Amino acid sequence: MKLFDVYPLFNIEIVRGKGCHVWDTDGNEYLDLYGGHAVISVGHSHPAYVKAITEQVGKLGFYSNSVINSLQQQLADRLGKACGYDDYSLFLINSGAEANENALKLASFHNGKKRVLAFKHAFHGRTSAAVRVTDNPKIIAPVNEGLPVTYLPLNDAAAVEAELKKGDVSSVIIEGIQGIGGIQMPTDAFMQQLRALCTEYGACLILDEIQSGYGRSGQFFAHQHAGIRPDLITVAKGIANGFPMGGLLISPMFKPVYGMLGTTFGGNHLACAAAIAVLDIMQQEHLVENAARVGSFLLDELHKLPGIKEVRGRGLMIGVEFEDSIKEVRSRLLFEEKVFTGVAGTNTIRLLPPLCLSMEEAEVFLKKFRHVLGV
Ligand SMILES: Cc1ncc(COP(=O)(O)O)c(C=O)c1O
Repeated sequence: MKLFDVYPLFNIEIVRGKGCHVWDTDGNEYLDLYGGHAVISVGHSHPAYVKAITEQVGKLGFYSNSVINSLQQQLADRLGKACGYDDYSLFLINSGAEANENALKLASFHNGKKRVLAFKHAFHGRTSAAVRVTDNPKIIAPVNEGLPVTYLPLNDAAAVEAELKKGDVSSVIIEGIQGIGGIQMPTDAFMQQLRALCTEYGACLILDEIQSGYGRSGQFFAHQHAGIRPDLITVAKGIANGFPMGGLLISPMFKPVYGMLGTTFGGNHLACAAAIAVLDIMQQEHLVENAARVGSFLLDELHKLPGIKEVRGRGLMIGVEFEDSIKEVRSRLLFEEKVFTGVAGTNTIRLLPPLCLSMEEAEVFLKKFRHVLGV
């Protein structure tokens, strides 16, 4: 059997990782400024993380959601404290798309409305409703087209209000910082207007923090820079440092009903053990603060480089946009300098390193980047 060929691959196989470094089958060492697509939060193969998963699988890997799993409540308690939402409740799933899918459903169950407002260049995942609110017609199949969605320009509060006034909007979904769209930033003022408008017109505000959350922006959630509280918050990626998991944080205004949401694998024992270890490590090693400190150093230094169109971002979620294609720059970083980076569109390099990136590692990256740029 062949693999269904949907990924354009680099001819590299990564077989080992430690902290912010990974190694390929030939023993080459790479500096990881990509974090396996913003997934590695506490670093590759952190000993406390490895120990937690190993011990848990030795006891019990999985049992169903029809019996008590106290690890879920332990995770909810830790997460509530770590992010400042201990009055919210937690629903656990296996991926970011599922988190958004359930958020959109819950909003619609709650207010009985259908239409969703989303933003230009947004990416919210590939399940039916999540992909429908993603602004990319190429990945929306005819079977996904049932949900009515209006895409609006980011940071245009008047456009949002004009749509909300029509009275049929169930929810507004927005990324804390747009990732795949190229590290596009909603302004703090826009976030505050969005919060006020959703309350005024009875729509639910869904914050997709799948890429921008879990400390990446230098706050636990990117929307916390604006001081707002959404109705629903979705998380995944860094939550379990690579173990597949997603979460939906739900404000007290939503009332649960048995059976309204559900999943086989969501919140399983292994995923919870991984996610609890991640929160412990984040707290002990002050990784949110580290992301803020190292991220702001990187942003300052990147701003000084000549020949770059724009540098955007917060914390360790950084976009470096060039006038032209970055294909060659990225490929030279990878094959000559042995540095993994991400991409958005054709002209933007995306930096999404593990949150434990040190100042020294940031300096090494800058040196290699300058070398490739010839500056
Ligand atoms: C902002 C955002 N939302 C949702 C998703 C979908 O997450 P997953 O691939 O885990 O379904 C992603 C993945 O890149 C994302 O960046």
